[in-house]
Order: sequence, then structure tokens, then C-alpha cells
Amino acid sequence: MTEAPQQGAILFYSEFDDPEEWRGHLRELAPWLDFRVWPDVGDPADIEWALVWKPPPGELRRFPNLRLIVNLGAGADSILADRTLPEHVPICRIVDPEMGRMMAQFALLAVMRHHRDFVSFERAKRQAEWRYIHPKPASAVRVGVMGLGSLGREAAALIASMGYRVAGWSRSPKRLEGIDTYAGQEELGAFLARSDILISLLPLTEETRDLIGRDVFSRLPRGAVFISLGRGHVVDEDALVEALRSGQVGEATLDVFRQEPLPKEHPFWAMEQVMITPHLASVAMAATSAPQVVENLLRTRAGQPPLNEVDRRKGY
Ligand code: NAP
Ligand code: GLV
Repeated sequence: MTEAPQQGAILFYSEFDDPEEWRGHLRELAPWLDFRVWPDVGDPADIEWALVWKPPPGELRRFPNLRLIVNLGAGADSILADRTLPEHVPICRIVDPEMGRMMAQFALLAVMRHHRDFVSFERAKRQAEWRYIHPKPASAVRVGVMGLGSLGREAAALIASMGYRVAGWSRSPKRLEGIDTYAGQEELGAFLARSDILISLLPLTEETRDLIGRDVFSRLPRGAVFISLGRGHVVDEDALVEALRSGQVGEATLDVFRQEPLPKEHPFWAMEQVMITPHLASVAMAATSAPQVVENLLRTRAGQPPLNEVDRRKGY
């Protein structure tokens, strides 16, 4: 690590994360850091770094000496949606092994709940019905993971380690041990045709917005399962409702939605075959993420690019 500076102020903003937890972990590593929680910003000229999750649009423009925006999460879509962001300030995101493990566990849990027919058993229990469904081995189930980034790769590896046949799809070609890989639009059809359970771990970008719609659902094997863990706007929800009603998609687990909280009147709520969780498949954890945040503060002070920088052009 670069030599510690004597002082420096960081602005914290998040409606989901505990500032005191972050303050504590950052203080252990960087006692010199002046940690300011929005809206108690003090003199805007003091702020060199921003550690933020979904800050109010336009807010980050107020700090003339800002060196780095740390997106307090993996997906950078919400911060990039702020068209007033200062252009010269780099943005990095959290890439944390603990966050990856939490996401992989959630994805595996969802896969197993569908594969082991728990959706049927939950329904049968409500009807006091003893419903026997002969189990099939994991090796008979083909799982497809869309997005092979830090989270998708870890989820794919964990699911494969349980004996499932796993493939992954990304923008650029990859080689991953034990995973069949597909890339680009040209290979999307072949990837979908072999996915009994499809998991989305794609970021929201201009290219991925509405990507998972009627065409994608129609190319899955009939009765396939869909697990949505990336971002809601990647999915055409009307097309998903239609696919669920027709049986083209048999069951779904949805953690992310176009509108969050999901409105009460949304048809997903009434669908027994749909599990809804409130966008918590994984979160950035202060204890394990604080070291990379401090590393990046020091890197930008030393004129180096931050680790895990978001590519504004690609949108992730
Ligand atoms: P990442 O490391 O940036 O990886 C993104 C992956 O998506 C890469 O493999 C990338 O392909 C692929 N991709 C991007 N655009 C594509 C396109 N047009 N076609 C095909 N593949 C494309 O992201 P991550 O850290 O794994 O996180 C993924 C997303 O999960 C985040 O952006 C966030 O939205 C979501 N998330 C959700 C939760 C939750 O609680 N539900 C928690 C954390 C994150 P290349 O490898 O070729 O670049
Ligand atoms: C959560 O959704 C994240 O992107 O970290």
C-alpha cells in the first residue's frame, strides 16, 4: 500500500448500509480518515472521496476536489444514470469475495429449491396433500448463468460443484474449468436451448436493458425455470408474466424488479410458481470490503487508477 496521507475526508451516503459499521472498519485501517455522513458534509471542498449507494442525482457535482466515487455495491447502473456526474472523476465498485459467496449461495439455494421440487411441496403442504415426485439427480439438470463476472463466475462454480451441468454466457469469450462457456448474441440461442434453469447475473447497461424478453423465454426448453438476480430492467416483466401463464417458463425466483418495492398490484404476487425476495441476494459487507476501499483512496491520492474501475462506456 502507498504511504498513508495525514488526513482526508470521505463522504458516506446510503439508505441501506450502516454508516457506523463502515466508519468503524475504515477507521481501523485508516485512522486519519475524516468520515462524513450525508447530509453533514461540512465544507464541500474538503471531500476527496465519496462512498455512496444511490446518492441523490446531482449531489456528487458539489465537491470540487473529488478524486474517486466508490459505488457501494457491485452494480454501477444507478450511479451511472446520474448524467451530472463529474466526468473526470473515476468510479470504482465493490468486488468482494464475501459478496460473491453470498450471491453464489443464494443462487444455489434457488436452483436447489426448483430442482428438488420444493415449489410443488410448498403448494401441496398448503393443501394437506402428500405429493410424491420422484427425484432426479443434479447431473440431469442444466443450469445457465447469464453474466460471468465476479458474481456470475462464483455462482456458476458453486452450482457446478454440486453436480449440476453448468454453462455460462458473457459478452467476451471465457474459459472456465467445469463450465461450458458461450459468448455474444451469436451463441445466445445455443446457450438458452440447453438451460433448464436460467439465472440472470447481468449488469444493467444499454445493451442488456430488456434483453431477457419474449425471444429469450421462447428459446428456453418448455417449463424452464428463471432466476433473476442481476437487475430488474434487464427483464421484460410483461413477457415473463406471459411466459409463466403459458407454462413456457414453469417457475421463477425473482430478487430484482423494474420497480422496487414491487407494487402491490403486480401480477407476480399472485403467481404461486413465483418466489419473490426483496433485492437482497447479496450485499457489500463493510468488514471485507473496507480494505479495498482504503486501497483505492490511497491509489487515487498517489495518482494511480483505482482497482475495480467501472468502464463508463461499457456501463459496468
Ligand atoms: P461484472 O463483474 O461487471 O460482470 C458482468 C458480466 O456480465 C460479465 O461477464 C460481462 O461480460 C457480462 N455482460 C455484460 N454485458 C453483457 C452483454 N451485453 N451480453 C453478454 N454478457 C454481458 O458484474 P458482477 O460483479 O458479476 O455483478 C453482476 C450484477 O449483479 C451487477 O451488475 C448487479 O446489477 C447485480 N447484483 C445484484 C445483487 C442482488 O442482491 N440481487 C447484488 C449484487 C449485484 P464480459 O465478462 O465479457 O465483460
Ligand atoms: C446490489 O444490487 C449491488 O449491485 O451491489
